[in-house]
Amino acid sequence: MRPRTVSVLVSLLLFIASSNVCNGGKLKKDFYGKDCPRLEETVRQITWEKVGENRSVAAKLLRLHFHDCFVRGCDASLLLDSVEGNSTEKKAIPNGSVSGYEIIDEIKAKLEEECPNTVSCADIVALAARDAVSYQFGRSMWQVFTGRKDGKVSLATEAARDLPSAFANYTTLKQQFANKGLNVFDLLALSGAHTIGVARCGVFARRVFNFTGKGDKDPALDSSYAKVLKTKCSNPPNPNITVELDRNSEFRFDSHYFVALNRNQSLLASDAALLTDRNAARIARDFENFFVFMSQFSRSIKKMSEIGVITRVGDKGEIRKNCRKVNA
Ligand code: HEM
Repeated sequence: MRPRTVSVLVSLLLFIASSNVCNGGKLKKDFYGKDCPRLEETVRQITWEKVGENRSVAAKLLRLHFHDCFVRGCDASLLLDSVEGNSTEKKAIPNGSVSGYEIIDEIKAKLEEECPNTVSCADIVALAARDAVSYQFGRSMWQVFTGRKDGKVSLATEAARDLPSAFANYTTLKQQFANKGLNVFDLLALSGAHTIGVARCGVFARRVFNFTGKGDKDPALDSSYAKVLKTKCSNPPNPNITVELDRNSEFRFDSHYFVALNRNQSLLASDAALLTDRNAARIARDFENFFVFMSQFSRSIKKMSEIGVITRVGDKGEIRKNCRKVNA
């Protein structure tokens, strides 16, 4: 074979290898290709059915994925129910309003019929989040490599420590993301997940009703928007009332979150905090363009979905039979 042909072949093989493997060769594209060939189809079918019935499911599954990955990595530790003597992540205050667990259970049950003891709950969470957001577009909006194993440990204290607070300032947010290997572009793009979904009045009421204890509003919050929020939430805040995170665009995954943010019309103090840094504020302006935002979001969420993954069965990892409890 001629040297040029050999070099072309080597490059081709390297390209194929690099496009199928990531994370030091741990997760793979189509990891279950042989053992559960219909996996991605099954996850998509159930997820799309649920989002089709109720559009708010997309935000729930996306948030569930984030809250799983930020604590002990993407290992489905968030799905474990508390048992006597161990209060799991679910019990931590920032997870109090997380939901969507029963959809993951339903997907898992179906997959246990199709290919028992094969697919991890952690992979289901990552795929379902992708498919839930993708429903609106009719095609997959980012790539999810698979091969995650399920963790065996889940601690409420770690969730309380690692999940960012709605009151966090920019320095804290940047640090909490850096702790997970995510940079400022990731922080901005992933915050753009707040383009869908809702927040309970309690998590932003202080910005509207009593920012410094004198009945004032947060000066970083647009006055006309503050008035709208006052009419939506009662004071003291009613825990059952929710408001869309992205004004008038609760179900559309688009870049309007950044348009609102740049007009000081973001809901959470942690969103508004992104404008307090010059570099972050510049990125927020660039992300008003949907294509710029979406191309970074796809890269960042793929990165997020690979935080601290367990890829071997053993002391740390297993394929859970039931996503809510470790195997006996
Ligand atoms: C940057 C730090 C972040 C903070 C401080 C934060 C905080 C919050 C808070 C306080 C809520 C409302 C919860 C409630 O009402 O109880 C919320 C909702 C939500 N968050 Fe975040 N979040 C952050 C980043 C992210 C990321 C990275 C994602 C996903 C990639 C995400 C996805 C969502 C979604 C989709 C909702 C709406 C959930 C629903 O409607 O059920 N958030 N977030």
